[in-house]
Amino acid sequence: MSEDTKPSYKIAVLGGTGAEGSGLAYRWSRAGCEVVIGSRDPARAQACAAELMTLPGAGAVRGASNEDAAKFADIVVLTVPYAAQQSTVLPLKDALRGKILVDVTVPLKPPKVDRVSLPSTGSVVAALQNELGAETRVVGACQNVSAHHLKDPHHQIDCDVLICGDDAQACDLVVALTELAGLRGIHAGPVANSAAAEAMTSLLIFINKKYKVKGSGIRITGLPA
Ligand SMILES: NC(=O)c1ccc[n+]([C@@H]2O[C@H](COP(=O)([O-])OP(=O)(O)OC[C@H]3O[C@@H](n4cnc5c(N)ncnc54)[C@H](OP(=O)(O)O)[C@@H]3O)[C@@H](O)[C@H]2O)c1
Repeated sequence: MSEDTKPSYKIAVLGGTGAEGSGLAYRWSRAGCEVVIGSRDPARAQACAAELMTLPGAGAVRGASNEDAAKFADIVVLTVPYAAQQSTVLPLKDALRGKILVDVTVPLKPPKVDRVSLPSTGSVVAALQNELGAETRVVGACQNVSAHHLKDPHHQIDCDVLICGDDAQACDLVVALTELAGLRGIHAGPVANSAAAEAMTSLLIFINKKYKVKGSGIRITGLPA
């Protein structure tokens, strides 16, 4: 696909003031998407957006409350800690109706974040899909992508993105979105399968510590190039 035929999306990143969300927001802005950073504090979101726009090749990014950001976008990306996942999203149920919610949440349990700690019910992304109902298509993605290199546009991030959701069209769109961020997205099944990606993050955190690296990742082999 040539540069000028790349699709553009309206993307809100809730909790986009954090490391993961701001890194993804930067990459999508570079790819020509309309990006809004969401925060509990609109002023913090605006400051974050202004900072992102100083980075090489950044496009227009603005800041807003989480609610206004969710209302604006067609695709809403959630990048808040697990403890804030439901309390951030459930008040926005109306704003999210008819949209795709990309959930990056990993259920880490500080301080032992290098140990898998999925709740007994399994995937926290699937739990959010249950709470929101079918009118919002929830897709788990990017849980294994370390924030560390996201703001270096020339860094080829050595990690595939496992994309899990119950709606195939929504998953295809999120595959395209990850490609715009310079990553390879792979449709890896229904939203319940997100549990595997959520669990994998603790293994990667352990591996980062053990081998003294900042951003270990995963690769799926055996696929056509
Ligand atoms: N960092 C990574 O390398 C990485 C990699 C893969 C997956 N993840 C996952 O991605 C998500 C975000 O990670 P992160 O490192 O960017 O997280 P973070 O910096 O700790 O938090 C992101 C943002 O969430 C908001 N937030 C924090 N506590 C909150 C609360 N109690 N209620 C509502 N909002 C709150 C804050 O935004 P405001 O204060 O502006 O509202 C904060 O800037 C997490 O679930 C994490 O497990 C992270």
